Amino acid sequence: MEIRLEKASAGERKAKPDASALGFGRHMADHMFVMAWSQEKGWHDAAVTKYASFAMDPAAMVLHYGQAIFEGLKAFRGKDSRIHLFRPTANFERMNRSAERMCMPQIPVDEVMTGLRMLIEADADWVPDVQGASLYIRPTMIATEPALGVRPSNRYLFYIITCPVGAYYPEGFNPVKIYVTDKYVRAVPGGVGAAKTAGNYAASIMAAVEAQKAGYTQVLWLDAVERKYVEEVGTMNIFFAIGDEVITPPLAGTILPGITRQSVIQLLKDWGGKVVERKISIDEVFDAAENGRLKEIFGTGTAAVISPVGALHFKERDCTINNGRTGELSQRLFDHLQGIQYGELPDSHHWVETL
Ligand code: COI
Repeated sequence: MEIRLEKASAGERKAKPDASALGFGRHMADHMFVMAWSQEKGWHDAAVTKYASFAMDPAAMVLHYGQAIFEGLKAFRGKDSRIHLFRPTANFERMNRSAERMCMPQIPVDEVMTGLRMLIEADADWVPDVQGASLYIRPTMIATEPALGVRPSNRYLFYIITCPVGAYYPEGFNPVKIYVTDKYVRAVPGGVGAAKTAGNYAASIMAAVEAQKAGYTQVLWLDAVERKYVEEVGTMNIFFAIGDEVITPPLAGTILPGITRQSVIQLLKDWGGKVVERKISIDEVFDAAENGRLKEIFGTGTAAVISPVGALHFKERDCTINNGRTGELSQRLFDHLQGIQYGELPDSHHWVETL
C-alpha cells in the first residue's frame, strides 16, 4: 500500500510546549497517520498528513456502540539525538488481538510500522530531548459506518497521533496512593477486559473520580466474581514484592496484557529474581503488610512506566508501603527500563527500534 506524505507547511506548524512542563497528553504534534478500511477495498488511502479534525457522520457506529480500540507506545530521544521506539510491533500485535475481540479488521503490522516511521520522521522535532520526557504515540481504530443496527461496522478509520509527554501522574516518579474498590468492577470473565477498548476506560471513570475525591491517585480493581483477587490499576498493571517473590496477577482474560508488564517480568527473570504470575487476594496483600513481608508495590504501563505505590486503602484497612518511599526494586526497574528505552543500556531482547 502506498503511503502519501503531505507535510504541514511552516505556517501550519504549532509552537512546541515547554519540555520541562509537559504533563500528559495535552499537546498534539503537527502530523498524524490515517488510513481507511471498507469491506470492498480493505485498508486504503494511507497517508501521513497534517494533524486535523475529522468530519464524522453523527450516526458513525463508534459514537453509539463504542467499537473503538487504541494503543499507547513511546518514542525516546537518546543522548546521541537518535530516536528509539520501544517494542512498537508488540503494540500493533496487541491491537490486532483487541480488534479480533471487538469484531474489527486486522491492521497490516508491517505497513503500519512504515507509516509510524514516516510519522515520527515528519515530527522528529517533537520528540523531547529532556530526560524523563518522550513522545507518546496513540494508534486508534474507530467504526465509521453511519448505521444504527448493532453489528460490526463495515467501515473503519485507523489513525496515529502523537504528543510529547512527561510523567503520567502529577506525583512524577514518586509513590502514588491507591484506593482499592469492591464497589465497582472493571471487567468480567468473558467480557472485554483484555482488549484495549475505549469502553473499559469509560467504565473506570466513576470509581477514579470517587478515589480522587477521597485523596487517592488511582483505583485498584478486584475481580468481578469474588471481589477478592487483585486485577490491575486504572492505567497500569500491578506487582507486589512480598518476601523473596515478586507477584503479579495472571493474564486470565480480565486484565490488560501490558507490554511494560511483560518487559518487567523478563527483566526480573534476567536478574535471577523469583517472579510469579498468580492470583493474589487483597487480604494477602494487607496481611503481608501487617507481618512485615510486603516490601514494595509498583505499577507498570507505557504512560506510567514504573510507578511506585506508597499507600493502599481498602474499606477499614490502610497500609503504607516502604514508609511511603520509592523502593529499591522499583527504582532499579525504572532506571533499567528507561536506560534501555533511551538507548543507554544494552538491549539484549531487541526491544528497541532505532530510527
Ligand atoms: C498507556 O499506558 O499507554 C495507556 O494506554 C494508559 C492510559 C493513559 C489510558
